[in-house]
Amino acid sequence: MTEFSHVPVMRDEVLVMLDIRPEGTYIDATVGLGGHSAAILALLGERGRLLGIDRDEAALAVAAERLGNGRVKLKKAAFADLLAAAQESGIEACDGILLDLGVSMMQLKDHERGFSFQSGHELDMRMDTAQPKSAWHIVNEEPEQELARIIHEYGEEPLSRRIARRIVAERKKRKIDTCVQLASIVASACGRRGKTHPATRTFQGLRIAVNREMEQLRSGLESAGALLNKGGRLCVLTYHSLEDRMVKHFMRDGVREGRFALLTKKPVSARREEVMSNPAARSAKLRGVERL
Ligand SMILES: C[S@@+](CC[C@H](N)C(=O)[O-])C[C@H]1O[C@@H](n2cnc3c(N)ncnc32)[C@H](O)[C@@H]1O
Repeated sequence: MTEFSHVPVMRDEVLVMLDIRPEGTYIDATVGLGGHSAAILALLGERGRLLGIDRDEAALAVAAERLGNGRVKLKKAAFADLLAAAQESGIEACDGILLDLGVSMMQLKDHERGFSFQSGHELDMRMDTAQPKSAWHIVNEEPEQELARIIHEYGEEPLSRRIARRIVAERKKRKIDTCVQLASIVASACGRRGKTHPATRTFQGLRIAVNREMEQLRSGLESAGALLNKGGRLCVLTYHSLEDRMVKHFMRDGVREGRFALLTKKPVSARREEVMSNPAARSAKLRGVERL
């Protein structure tokens, strides 16, 4: 049996913002290990419906074990296919949608998935393992300029060019196969010491590129806006500034166009006690809108 001890990020704040009605229809578009979905299900009545979506099959298997009992429908899909996934599940419109972005603890901690710079396994970082292109392909095959762009744009790394140059020099000598190998190449290119590992930004940039996270987010937000009933709510948890900026602009544009009312003028952060017990919550920002 899998242990379900983890409490999802800002669970109570998300539930309040979604304003769950027992007979409502909800979509958790990042079901992950099912933490938020379990909390939503607990508030739904007999006639309430929940669709859980993820593009990671391993996550869906854990969610199925946790949520069980047929009250939730689980479906493998990416944000880009959110509209189709909802329609295939018989949902034309819904009362609330949650996006809890980024990677799950399971993806990060399972070193075989190749997300962590502590992993001795092959560079991978695919959320959907059926996708052909992984971080290995980007690191070993993309031209230097494209590598620098990815590390700069998605990793917000000021030393992106120097890092890209070093990666290209090293991969000429031998392929860069593992996460630890890449992490040490980046560390040697940066030559700096601080609290965070010098490869943190580079790994973030690669992960975003591998999973096309920004394109996915844009399309997920648009589909979510189209799926909401009047009075329905969209809640989004982000973990870095690129995501948060995109969500903020999407919501502000919707308000200007008269489609949404803002539920959060400023993003909501996790309480101190939560951050103490779950460091993953430190960078979390929660924003929400209501469909008019
Ligand atoms: C932070 S975790 C969600 C954790 C979840 N809220 C819980 O309580 O267990 C994010 C999940 O979203 C999924 N995900 C990220 N981007 C996605 C996308 N574009 N389409 C579908 N799923 C995505 C990831 O595979 C991961 O399982």
